Amino acid sequence: MNLLAVSDLDKARIDGLIQRAITLKERHKKGIPYQPLKGKALGLVFEKASTRTRVSFEMAMLHLGGNAVFLGPKDSQIGRGEPVKDTARVLARYVDAMAIRTFGQEIIDEYARYSSVPVINALTDLHHPCQVLSDVMTIVEKKGGYEGVKVCWIGDGNNMANSWIEAAMILGFELRLACPEGYEPCAKILGAAKAKAGVEIQTVKSPEEAAKDADVLSTDVWASMGQEAEQAKRARAFKGYQINSRLLSLAEKDAIVMHCLPAHREEEITEEVLEGPGSVVWDEAENRLHMQKAILEWLLVETAV
Ligand code: CP
Ligand code: NVA
Repeated sequence: MNLLAVSDLDKARIDGLIQRAITLKERHKKGIPYQPLKGKALGLVFEKASTRTRVSFEMAMLHLGGNAVFLGPKDSQIGRGEPVKDTARVLARYVDAMAIRTFGQEIIDEYARYSSVPVINALTDLHHPCQVLSDVMTIVEKKGGYEGVKVCWIGDGNNMANSWIEAAMILGFELRLACPEGYEPCAKILGAAKAKAGVEIQTVKSPEEAAKDADVLSTDVWASMGQEAEQAKRARAFKGYQINSRLLSLAEKDAIVMHCLPAHREEEITEEVLEGPGSVVWDEAENRLHMQKAILEWLLVETAV
């Protein structure tokens, strides 16, 4: 079993992971020890920077009684040209699962093909499944469920947008996306989602249309990791796609604002909104820890208690 994209999971599995993450969060807050991963290790191979994903996975392993081994962009032999297929086979002889942060989806697909242990997508250019699972968990906590919740995505049609589309397709909540021309989500993912009966995913022209009556407003940076050279060009293309108090005023009164972080204040989101009463970004970031535990338990523990 692997978790390479949200679409590797069905609705029952996602619901199960969310409920389990909520339970594990409660237990953690009460200080109840739960260490089913004693003697197990997670390998983290990250070719891009990370704060949340790295630390939440490492702490998840610590709390569950296991260990984590982190290989950053300069640590492994990958940077010196060792093939992915060799790295995957070797690491699988040492660790019980691996979380990979890399560029193309084909790279993580290759890890999964050659690894004999589960592979988890810790972010690729195409998907960020662990983040969106934590985000849906946050919606469940804040809104009592995702059924009937109107989510909007404003900004880049990036890895986060693609994972939101897959989550909406599988879970059935309404998703409206407003992305500038030329920065739309992956056409294949969007097409597959829209083709599914009963799916309420809309791509709209303006951020205002997306934000109208929304229960959840979500965005992300305009230039993702690896796109730094396009920053200025993107800043011009994304003008008007900022979540600010004007856009927020179009949404439902009790709308929540989400951002996977790191955020660029006054670009995709204003300081006022990010720090405002509707923002749930810190809970969202915290939930990475609890969702990661639920994912690791699903992949590595035979009988969870
Ligand atoms: N949201 C997220 O994945 O953050 P990091 O890049 O810090 O891991
Ligand atoms: N879209 C962003 C998400 C960072 C967590 C990136 O890929 O850089």
